[in-house]
Amino acid sequence: MGVTPPEPTEREPALTDDTRDRIRDLASRFDDPRSALLPALYTAQEQIGYLPQEAVQEVASVLQLPCAEVGAVASFYTMFYKRPVGQHVIGVCRTLSCALLGAESLLDYLSQKLDVKVGETTSDGRFTLREVECLGACDMAPAMMVDDTYYGNLTEEKLDEILSILGWTGGEDTGPPDESRD
Ligand code: FES
Repeated sequence: MGVTPPEPTEREPALTDDTRDRIRDLASRFDDPRSALLPALYTAQEQIGYLPQEAVQEVASVLQLPCAEVGAVASFYTMFYKRPVGQHVIGVCRTLSCALLGAESLLDYLSQKLDVKVGETTSDGRFTLREVECLGACDMAPAMMVDDTYYGNLTEEKLDEILSILGWTGGEDTGPPDESRD
């Protein structure tokens, strides 16, 4: 079965000095710090793996923006994760073009194959399954994104191929996931 990630606690990791410096550098390139907000949140997520409230507060502090504003942006975009995620994040589009071409059944297929519900991570920590809104790839619906890569014209066979390439072994225990995210 999949696992539901724990609620972030008050003792989540803070941004490192290097991450803060990178965010300051981003901000220095713009007149308005809001212009640096999305890359700054990416930078924080890159360090921690997701965006706990503490990271949102620290990004707001570095950019000297209201915390509520930064939090609203972090919540709005699906590419920012509020909870810890697996080594690979699978985001299946559920918007109209993809829905009409079978996205829901593909999502069910992935859910059964990985033995997780939407929003959960496989027990080996390798895959997180998510539903997302339009990926801007409607011309190749049904579509999904895995990490930073788009996949379209999906079928169950194609999903099998993609999972296989990503190291899915049918749920057999092959040890902990690699440290590196590809
Ligand atoms: S509707 Fe799925 S990518 Fe646009």
